[in-house]
Amino acid sequence: MRLLRTADELRPMAGGAFVPTMGALHAGHLALIDAARHLGTPTIVSIFVNPTQFAPGEDFDRYPRPVDRDLELCRAHGADAVFLPAATAIYPPDLEVPVPPLPAVATAPGLEDRIRPGHFAGVCQVVARLFDLVRPCAAVLGEKDYQQLRVITAMVEAAGNRWPGLRIVGHPTVREPDGLALSSRNAYLGPDERGDAVGLFRALRKATTLPTPDIAECIMLDTLQVHGLSVEYAVVRRADSLLPAESLSVPTRALIAARLGAVRLIDNMPMPIHPSPAVEILGRVPSSPDPP
Ligand code: PAF
Repeated sequence: MRLLRTADELRPMAGGAFVPTMGALHAGHLALIDAARHLGTPTIVSIFVNPTQFAPGEDFDRYPRPVDRDLELCRAHGADAVFLPAATAIYPPDLEVPVPPLPAVATAPGLEDRIRPGHFAGVCQVVARLFDLVRPCAAVLGEKDYQQLRVITAMVEAAGNRWPGLRIVGHPTVREPDGLALSSRNAYLGPDERGDAVGLFRALRKATTLPTPDIAECIMLDTLQVHGLSVEYAVVRRADSLLPAESLSVPTRALIAARLGAVRLIDNMPMPIHPSPAVEILGRVPSSPDPP
């Protein structure tokens, strides 16, 4: 496995399958690396804790950085190269790294932008810069950060030929046995909080059994409160635009952000599609009897 620090060292890796990360790797990241390897081109993992996607007062300084362990895990999972840039390789002092136009899905009302304004501008800035440097044929990203996945997909679609042929591949969320979605921030949870953190998974799982977005949202709220979670949002949205969904007759996603003390957790789940009432009625029209 090669350890790359500069844009020049990266050049021969163009056309690979790329897994951008901020390190503190867990089984969710390792599943992304495994999926990237299956794409059949060299796999490049980046590890860079991007300052521009953290607001002042967020956890940038204390974000875990176990670099030696991360490199060992990348090696064990067969990554061909790890890009571990210094901040100056991403944001050179003599270069203004542009923020690409923000896709509409980044500012879908009531979601991340309400709680973390500016976050997706920082994500788009660093991911666009990484794509420019790595020049991958595919980037594999987790569905755990579903809005981020949609934002990056939309950014690439809107970028025309800037990254020719680049495909964004979403990978299902990896969970603990009790359902808690894996996240580097789970390391912040104390033993008492860990028990309540599973409330996000329970709320989402209940939501998927309910017939309308409104009912699903009410039940998610109840479940989260029972677990002592302080809710930032618990909503059902259209899976593509993340705008409010009136029914479950189109693809939708339940999304939650909630806090346990100082720890912020997010999770999401696809909702089953329910036929619209019209389709249901048509489905129940008895077929005409066979002619005699
Ligand atoms: O999901 C993450 O770890 C980060 O937001 C990303 C995509 C690596 C950009 O810094």
